[in-house]
Amino acid sequence: MRQIALLAGLAYWTGAARDVITDDAHFYGQSPPVYPSPEMVGGNEWEAAFQKAKALVSQMTLEEKVNLTAGVAADSTCSGTIPAVKRLNFPGMCLSDAGNGLRNTDFVSGFPSGIHVGASWSKDLAFRRGAAMGGEFKKKGVNVLLGPVVGPAWRTVRGGRNWEGISVDPWLSGVLVSQTVSGIQGQGVITSTKHYIGNEQETNRMPEGNTSSVSSNIDDKTMHEVYLWPFQDAVRAGSGNIMCSYQRVNNSYGCANSKTLNGLLKTELGFQGFVVSDWGAQHAGVATAEAGLDVAMPGASEFWGNHLVEAVKNGSLPESRVTDMATRVIATWYQFSQDTSFPKPGVGMPSNVLDPHEIVDGRDPAAAPVLLNGAIEGHVLVKNTKNTLPLKSPRMLSLFGYSAKTPDFFNPSSNLLFSQTWISGMEALDSNYVSDNGLPTFGKNGTMFGACGSGAITPALTISPFEALKIRASQEGTAVFNDFVSDKPSVEPSSDACIVFGNAWACEGYDRPAIRDDYTDSLIKSVADQCSKTIVVFHNAGPRLVDGFVDHPNVTAIIFAHLPGQESGPALVSLLFGDTSPSGKLPYTVAKNESDYGDVLDPAQPEGEFVNFPQADFHEGVYLDYRYFDKKGIEPRYEFGFGLGYTTFAYSNISINYIQGANTYPWPGGPIVSGGQTDLWDAIATVSVDIQNTGSVAGAEVAQLYIGIPGAPAKQLRGFEKPFLQPNESQSVTFHLTRRDLSVWSVERQKWQLQQGTYKFYVGSSSRRLPLNGTMDL
Ligand code: NOJ
Repeated sequence: MRQIALLAGLAYWTGAARDVITDDAHFYGQSPPVYPSPEMVGGNEWEAAFQKAKALVSQMTLEEKVNLTAGVAADSTCSGTIPAVKRLNFPGMCLSDAGNGLRNTDFVSGFPSGIHVGASWSKDLAFRRGAAMGGEFKKKGVNVLLGPVVGPAWRTVRGGRNWEGISVDPWLSGVLVSQTVSGIQGQGVITSTKHYIGNEQETNRMPEGNTSSVSSNIDDKTMHEVYLWPFQDAVRAGSGNIMCSYQRVNNSYGCANSKTLNGLLKTELGFQGFVVSDWGAQHAGVATAEAGLDVAMPGASEFWGNHLVEAVKNGSLPESRVTDMATRVIATWYQFSQDTSFPKPGVGMPSNVLDPHEIVDGRDPAAAPVLLNGAIEGHVLVKNTKNTLPLKSPRMLSLFGYSAKTPDFFNPSSNLLFSQTWISGMEALDSNYVSDNGLPTFGKNGTMFGACGSGAITPALTISPFEALKIRASQEGTAVFNDFVSDKPSVEPSSDACIVFGNAWACEGYDRPAIRDDYTDSLIKSVADQCSKTIVVFHNAGPRLVDGFVDHPNVTAIIFAHLPGQESGPALVSLLFGDTSPSGKLPYTVAKNESDYGDVLDPAQPEGEFVNFPQADFHEGVYLDYRYFDKKGIEPRYEFGFGLGYTTFAYSNISINYIQGANTYPWPGGPIVSGGQTDLWDAIATVSVDIQNTGSVAGAEVAQLYIGIPGAPAKQLRGFEKPFLQPNESQSVTFHLTRRDLSVWSVERQKWQLQQGTYKFYVGSSSRRLPLNGTMDL
């Protein structure tokens, strides 16, 4: 079948090198069949677990194997539970949300969200955050952490769940998701990298009435270079589980799509773990089994369970498929040694935290620096004039805005702020959001340290900016004035500086109504009219435009504080007072106007002849965010990769080195292991530069490498390093480039192709501040 699909694909291919493919009939608008579902083969790092799993599963009855393929109701708040096979000492598994920390239970931490990890550009922090989360999930008896997120890949600018993911750039997301997976799984907790694949908008993500879910129509080249890329990194890092998504991909459901599951994931990427459905994303029985789905959550619904047993008995589905499903589940459990060293599944997830229960404190004091530094490094300073920051023992600070203080009501253990009420919160939001004052009632009530839905966090304790500022002010002898209520507050004339805290909220299930709001813009301007140094701080779950006030002469500093997690207040104070120099960089572009983003600003809507089958055509191909701004010559307000600190850095001495002896044959030839062909990761070249701290305070700099690959967008991120330098100190940093980094996807050959010609290299502090450049011919 696969062979036939590929041959047919060739007929549509004209052979000319094009960078946007819109007529790739076999991948654009329809999903080619790829059957049968590849069985787990073990090998390499999976071999031992595979052998153990085969031995255990061979003792199971058909019914026992089928039981492993769907969730069951359990007396816990695990998001999903795979049942035990007591006879064989398999205790079952607890699967729980999510990628920013464990929610829906007590005594856990609230980590910075995915967007914050992206903004920190720190491999080290991504790894350590993962390890700290993994430690907590394990103590609580959660076998599978439902995260991290690299789908959405931020195609839709107003996307409601982008903030759970890392960045609009696949390379950045890929590096940081790889670190996250390694960090979490190093603790023996399985990651469910999600939502696979093309889950780019919340609008019509589920079928409703006569309207089916939206279809993300993605051509094969874009699929590989943008959407599959970070999943590939996650699989290579060993992610034991992948969650298939709600929406359709090329008109076939994410959890019934043989091309994406059997083809891309289990064949091309050699994935050895198991695929779980998003909750309620299964819409067919035998078809989903054949397409590569292994476990249905939260339960068998009307499709599997007894029906799957019957399907095997009446010959509709070979038993070998069910055996493979069970083997993949059990092998993953063995792979992370959960057979020997794991708490009872769900032990720290009481069904009702208000009832008396055994307390399992998931937190580890050793994670404190990760929570704080993770929060600090994901703040991005984009404007700082009139020597506004850092603050120097101000006599009076005046504070405004609804995102400064702890919410009026906050119950850490029952998750009432960011998660469980998200449905009722959204009811309020529907009626209030834009019409009232641009904010959900909910958002007005307090600071936003995370966002809403299954990626919400429920820390045992959080410190808001207001709380942390008051403590610091008391140490500095600073007077603090605050008015978090008025929309046109009066400012005390003796204020040395004013801070306005706004937010840009988002929630699973809904795309963001807007990427700016008049209420907050007007609040900022009204403060700035009266205060000569006005600092704007946004807690933002995605890009937030600033052109409504950015040119006001008294708006002298702007910070995108993103979603910092429980240490939001202390992190901000550390930056405002200069204990640390800001080092975050934007993991997305901030445009001047909504229209600058082009067609991807808004989610696709059901319309025209497809009103009941909404279609989202990804016709922009790989040209998202800075690739698009570069192509169209659009000047952004703040470009991808941009962020200021309190010091300055000089770049010098670029050296581009082809690794002697590296194989530059255009096509990889290596065997497939987890993540794809082995030689995709062969080293081909290195780029080194010197960076010097030329300012007067210590700070970290994110040095970025962009490459113009022949036949590809003008520049694409292909490296970053984050050295911390004392004043005057300089350091040489080296970027390592693999075959995949320098290749483009060939639709004809179905392989990554190293290009021939001149590669252009650019190094600097953002995607548009690139003082060093050079070339290399291949
Ligand atoms: C639906 C969400 O899309 C997914 O991210 C989450 O893990 C599951 N629900 C379980 O809560």
